[in-house]
Amino acid sequence: MLADELNTKVPAFLRWCTPSILPSQVRVNDVYGTDISISCEFLGNLLGNPPTGSFGTLAVEISKAYGSGGSLISVNGSSGSNWVVARYFARADSEIRNEVVTGRKPIVLIARNCHHSVFNSLKAQGVRFRFIESSYLERYEAFLPPSPSQVLKAIVEYSGRDDVTGLIITSPTYEGLPARTSEILRIARSYLPDATVVVDEAWGSHLTFADDADRLPAAALSEGADIVLQSSHKTGGALQQTGLLHYTKDPEFDRERLLTAYREYCTTSPSYHLVASIEAAVMDLRTDGALKINRLVRLTTDLRKRLKGEGLCLEFLSEDLGQIGSEIESGRYDFTKLVASTYRYNTTGLQLSKALEGQHRIIAEKSGLRSILFLATFQLPDDAPEKTAQAWKALLNSQQPTASSPAAVSHPAFAALSEPRYEPYMVSRIANEDTREVPFKNAAGRIAAESIELYPPGIPIVIEGYPIEGGTLDYLLRSKAQGASLVCRDPTLQKVLVLA
Ligand SMILES: Cc1ncc(COP(=O)(O)O)c(C=O)c1O
Repeated sequence: MLADELNTKVPAFLRWCTPSILPSQVRVNDVYGTDISISCEFLGNLLGNPPTGSFGTLAVEISKAYGSGGSLISVNGSSGSNWVVARYFARADSEIRNEVVTGRKPIVLIARNCHHSVFNSLKAQGVRFRFIESSYLERYEAFLPPSPSQVLKAIVEYSGRDDVTGLIITSPTYEGLPARTSEILRIARSYLPDATVVVDEAWGSHLTFADDADRLPAAALSEGADIVLQSSHKTGGALQQTGLLHYTKDPEFDRERLLTAYREYCTTSPSYHLVASIEAAVMDLRTDGALKINRLVRLTTDLRKRLKGEGLCLEFLSEDLGQIGSEIESGRYDFTKLVASTYRYNTTGLQLSKALEGQHRIIAEKSGLRSILFLATFQLPDDAPEKTAQAWKALLNSQQPTASSPAAVSHPAFAALSEPRYEPYMVSRIANEDTREVPFKNAAGRIAAESIELYPPGIPIVIEGYPIEGGTLDYLLRSKAQGASLVCRDPTLQKVLVLA
């Protein structure tokens, strides 16, 4: 049974992966004995406007800790928050309001590296989106955030023909890279004063509490974003599945629209234990978060030094930031992460990650064909870097590293995804008879009627309404052959759904 496995096996693993749990947070003593619902009135109402009772108090305290205009609680992670954001955009469709089909359509510009919850929720709610072009760092299999000039280009291009109502970017990225959010905001404010700027800061719950000396990315709320969403379980110390959705203090912000979207989406039975864990983790970070985050930075620094000390031929993203151009905030990085490129070895990051888990009981956050990502978590013991470096040495020592980079593993050309052939949300509603399954290998040039992604990172590679690229198919087949996990109708990659 899962419960038995959780009880007996999990404690034995070194977890360089989410959730990052603050061991010192105030805990609920008896989870089974205290599970309770909204029928109990004395705790108050989470969905009240404003929330009442204990929920009211915790919402105010969390909002103070993050410096937001208000903070909404999610017990369905950032995926849930992205659905609320999509609903927020869906609630202001000027075309529907005017009951006419206008030439200009409302659209939201999104970064190419947005998580699938952004795409899926926009599609599900009939919101049109277009991509902001962005680049990809092959050596680390890392998507870069769009640079301010790429954002400007997208704004100029699309606002000429459509009504751009919002922008969604991810920062920091999964790999810890910070967008130049304040510059992007300046551009958005000057070209699109009415647009809502959303930062998916799923990976940044801790940033507000970090010491500036650790040079972590700045928190998006402090830079002036309108809506910022975070997964509290990723880097914020709370239990799995928790998240926060903050909005700005700016009185002009359409707060009621967001609150309505939130009420429409939320479960009526939130786990009070998860909610309690969000509050407890935030209070813990508010007390001495800077020290605890600094310890995480020391863990990744220690791991990096030990891996180098073992003589392994690895390269590290945190040491290569200078190679990245105007896409990222200079000198800043989420140093609680360690992304290593394994390209000099014949073993892929995926194989290495499986071996670390299977043979050494060490879990990495994410791996790919040539990279592996370690996330320092609050629960890791001090000797985690030493044990992890020894395990890597045991796995890689017998291998002769190659002197040069192997043939480039080229990733699908993101720039090519500028215009869909059909609106993705329309394709996602299409009747079965208008689609058909074709052999995967013959699908190049067809229009996709489903999305395909590797998980993690959960960024769709094939997207409904867009032509399927040959290079994309090769990349997916190669990744699958190396053990990557795929999210799509047919994870064996024999067939793919296209428009008939
Ligand atoms: C950028 C980004 N946004 C949103 C999510 C979804 O977060 P959650 O797992 O909290 O639903 C993820 C998950 O990895 C993510 O990487």
